[in-house]
Amino acid sequence: MTNTKEYISETKDVATFFHGYAADFDSIYGHTKKRSSWDKFLDKYFRVSMRLRYELVLKYTATNEIRTILDVGCGGGVYCEALLNAGKTVTGIDIAEGMLQLAEQKTAQYITEGKVNYIHSGYLEHPFSQQYDAAVLVGFFDYIKTPIDTFKKLEKEVTKELLMSFPKSGGFLGWQRKVRYKMRNCPLYYYSKTDLESLLGQMGWLNKAEIIDIERDFFVRVTL
Ligand SMILES: C[S@@+](CC[C@H](N)C(=O)[O-])C[C@H]1O[C@@H](n2cnc3c(N)ncnc32)[C@H](O)[C@@H]1O
Repeated sequence: MTNTKEYISETKDVATFFHGYAADFDSIYGHTKKRSSWDKFLDKYFRVSMRLRYELVLKYTATNEIRTILDVGCGGGVYCEALLNAGKTVTGIDIAEGMLQLAEQKTAQYITEGKVNYIHSGYLEHPFSQQYDAAVLVGFFDYIKTPIDTFKKLEKEVTKELLMSFPKSGGFLGWQRKVRYKMRNCPLYYYSKTDLESLLGQMGWLNKAEIIDIERDFFVRVTL
């Protein structure tokens, strides 16, 4: 378990960062604000992974067994919207209010229909009273120092599938991103394949997990 004081201070920094960064982040998907030339250059490198992880989430949730989905770190709601369009019932949780406002705007009709609800909280801090068929954690572990705490909670709250992305360590762009985030006081964590195998091993998930190499990220699917 992570040090509590350190955890609180880090999650506060992440919330502040994403609250202010909401419109910029959303614009990577082509929503809201215009991108600068430098941002567009970076997007080109990160976009392949972003597209691949999006496709994998839709592929692995496209089954009748998966009806309810928890989107942890749902951000501006791009995944929530796609999963709702695919007929799923979704709960999105995020620590940054600005991000949730974008998600609510995108999925307003589904909120009215009771197909989606949003929770403003850090994931570890919010106890869920129901279980979900699947959880999506895309672009989430980038900001999480001790993934095991999240895994242990997911194990209780999710019954079938975990679909997760982890940013790869190494490379100039990874280093450059780390510096950019550090300048804005936002923590950032990278993972090697060995790190992931060790984490999955600690959970006893190695034989239930698939690690897929998708350019800048590893995509991990755990079938519970
Ligand atoms: C890079 S965005 C990804 C958003 C969305 N999943 C996507 O891929 O489009 C990461 C999101 O995770 C949220 N986040 C980070 N740490 C969190 C935590 N401990 N609990 C809940 N949300 C968190 C941030 O506020 C941010 O909106």
